Amino acid sequence: MDEAMSASTSGGGASHKGPVRDRLALALDVDDLVAASRLARSLVGHFRVAKIGLELYTAAGPEAIGAMIDLGYDVFCDLKLHDIPNTVNRAARVVGELGVSYLTVHAAGGVEMLRAGAEGLAAGATRPAGVLAVTVLTSEAQVAATRDLVAQRMEMAFEAGCAGVICAAPDLTATRHVRPELLRAVPGIRLAGDSVDDQRRVASPVQALAAGADLLVVGRPVTRAADPLEAAERLHRSLQQ
Ligand code: C5P
Repeated sequence: MDEAMSASTSGGGASHKGPVRDRLALALDVDDLVAASRLARSLVGHFRVAKIGLELYTAAGPEAIGAMIDLGYDVFCDLKLHDIPNTVNRAARVVGELGVSYLTVHAAGGVEMLRAGAEGLAAGATRPAGVLAVTVLTSEAQVAATRDLVAQRMEMAFEAGCAGVICAAPDLTATRHVRPELLRAVPGIRLAGDSVDDQRRVASPVQALAAGADLLVVGRPVTRAADPLEAAERLHRSLQQ
């Protein structure tokens, strides 16, 4: 179990020095379960976690979660909940019952809402599970204002009993000493030569791990590659050098 997860309300992570696969989450941002399952089946040897976001969840719902669990993944349900605490609590409980390992909730919703999510998820969970608080969306704040806000929202996540946070790689170093118990899940991962797509704040896998990332969220560089398996192997090789 990951140090960050075990120190929190929940479990489900990988060892800091464990296999590369344990540190990788595959973002399945596609709009149908057949395509998602095809990708997921071919890449399960390279990624421990399957991230189901709004697109796939809206298309396929809880069935997508069950399908990824059946393939052997820990599921990261990226629904970015943000509502009144009671609603978040009840939704998180249902998500927990579906067997997910991670659920995202917006830190912008406040400590009470985050706590409602963490408690709801724990109440429903059928396996070790934790809430990851979304600190700041790349679209939400100017870079200069972001680091203080990220640190503040990390404190909120800790206080609320979250297992971890989502944050951009460039914010990792400045916030390294803020609640190190929290798992850091980091999107915007790119190898040299990869398209940046709409990511504005990117880092290589090696840079992100060196800066303190625990879980790297990788989507298009693998899922949109001409050969996703080859792209996943390239990603692994970059981390094994
Ligand atoms: O860019 P990539 O496809 O690797 O994105 C992986 C995840 O990063 C997406 O599922 C999304 O949740 C997140 N993302 C983000 N900021 C963006 C675009 C995507 O954090 N600008």
